[in-house]
Amino acid sequence: MAVEHHPNGVCTRPAKADDQSRVFELIEQLTGEVVTSDWQGVYESHLRLERGAVVVAENNLSIVGIATVSYNMTIRYGGEYCELEELIVDDSARGLNLGRILVQRTIDDARRRGCHEIGLYLVPSTEGNRGFYEKLGFEAIGTEMRQMLKTDRAIEKK
Ligand SMILES: CC(C)(COP(=O)(O)OP(=O)(O)OC[C@H]1O[C@@H](n2cnc3c(N)ncnc32)[C@H](O)[C@@H]1OP(=O)(O)O)[C@@H](O)C(=O)NCCC(=O)NCCS
Repeated sequence: MAVEHHPNGVCTRPAKADDQSRVFELIEQLTGEVVTSDWQGVYESHLRLERGAVVVAENNLSIVGIATVSYNMTIRYGGEYCELEELIVDDSARGLNLGRILVQRTIDDARRRGCHEIGLYLVPSTEGNRGFYEKLGFEAIGTEMRQMLKTDRAIEKK
């Protein structure tokens, strides 16, 4: 994964170790969760592109958006598929195509890695983004069922 340059002086690149605090800040904003000691190990694993990745979008001032993915292995594909996990563009930079650029970058990276598909799930609070993902080529397929296995977290912050 390399640095890619986009219009308006924005570039996307894989996250580095010293991006961690800004990436965590944006994930806190997105999820309403507070950083725990477990986050760092996952972040470091994603820097090594083991089971996921973090892509940042930055302008000449700062990181203005992030997309994180997990790479999951399944027998039916004989390999990996990709799940878009966390996507957020800073309030100050919305509507400038950065969300599209970030998602397209994760699609391109997943394709290069050999993933068979890329997906995401919407929850009630993000359902309003359906049109955004449709513009990027995603189609609704079925519905998802989940069961939380750690009781200290709600599946979604209301
Ligand atoms: C969703 C989000 C990432 C979109 O990023 P963005 O940079 O503002 O969006 P873009 O400028 O790249 O939009 C690309 C296109 O999608 C459209 N679009 C953006 N948000 C949309 C929405 N919620 N519904 C329908 N279309 C949308 C834009 O109008 C644009 O269309 P165009 O190319 O025809 O002009 C951003 O609004 C965000 O960070 N939201 C808060 C966090 C969040 O909801 N994350 C996703 C969790 S599933």
